[in-house]
Amino acid sequence: FLKLLLLSWSVLIIALCPTCPSLYCGLTVTPAEVYVKYGDSASINCSTTIKDAAIMSWEFAVGETSGASPPHVTWMIEKLEDFTVEPFCFVTLDTNEQCKMKPNITLYKLPDSVVVSAVGNRPMKEGEEHQLQCHIYNVAPAKKLSVKWYKDDETVLTDDLQSSDVTLCNVSSIYTFTVKKSDNGSPFRCEAEFQFGPGGPLVPPSMASEPYTAVVHCRFFIALYLVFLYLPTLMSAALFLLLFCICSFSIKTLYLY
Ligand SMILES: *[C@@H]1O[C@H](CO)[C@@H](O)[C@H](O)[C@H]1NC(C)=O
Ligand SMILES: *[C@@H]1O[C@H](CO)[C@@H](O)[C@H](O)[C@H]1NC(C)=O
Ligand SMILES: *[C@@H]1O[C@H](CO)[C@@H](O)[C@H](O)[C@H]1NC(C)=O
Repeated sequence: FLKLLLLSWSVLIIALCPTCPSLYCGLTVTPAEVYVKYGDSASINCSTTIKDAAIMSWEFAVGETSGASPPHVTWMIEKLEDFTVEPFCFVTLDTNEQCKMKPNITLYKLPDSVVVSAVGNRPMKEGEEHQLQCHIYNVAPAKKLSVKWYKDDETVLTDDLQSSDVTLCNVSSIYTFTVKKSDNGSPFRCEAEFQFGPGGPLVPPSMASEPYTAVVHCRFFIALYLVFLYLPTLMSAALFLLLFCICSFSIKTLYLY
């Protein structure tokens, strides 16, 4: 029974101990949260309050350590390009106990390009549903990316991408809308913006597409075409003029198809 009691005590202590600071050997990393632009340098200091650490260093796959004299060691890299970078600082005590502290590093890369295009190859017609797609090329991490859609500089949709990708990838967002007459000539743009939260850069890094100018086709032109085909010339000429006028009033750009 005594053994059982002891066992449950140690289980309890282990369970509670991630919250007790002594188990971290007084380790601190500064900065604890860092945002690095792709290809930029980074450096993180680690220190401990323990005076007689047997070993203190960084564990890392890229970069190097410097100032390696406990209780202060620094990890640094000239050009960070590894999206899975996860160095951690550790201390090993005389008793062989080991503590670790991992800074939160977010490496981000703005897209190579952001482009808006129409989905499908059909013309935009008044009253019909239409889709625009925003292509975002070579960006990371996509899971921290949000896409904003603008029409005439007004936000019409904010799309938080449901991507879990951490490394470079291509992502896209779709904006679906019902075409209005007033959409004609309107510039549509999309913008990819990182959502890093309060620890991130003051101005969230972002990149916008070139505007995509909507050309709305007048709904009367189908009728116009039929009129042209089937009615006697004079009548059709009169109707053509009438429809042409209606279309010209409502729409700036006219397309015959
Ligand atoms: C790390 O420590 C060094 C010297 O102790 C100091 O010059 C440097 O600014 C520190 N870097 C950070 C990121 O705190
Ligand atoms: C890193 O982020 C995680 C989750 O948000 C947090 O629990 C942890 O304490 C952070 N690490 C540091 C060193 O601040
Ligand atoms: C993204 O798309 C471009 C063009 O289609 C392609 O060349 C590139 O390899 C893609 N990038 C990724 C990470 O899939």
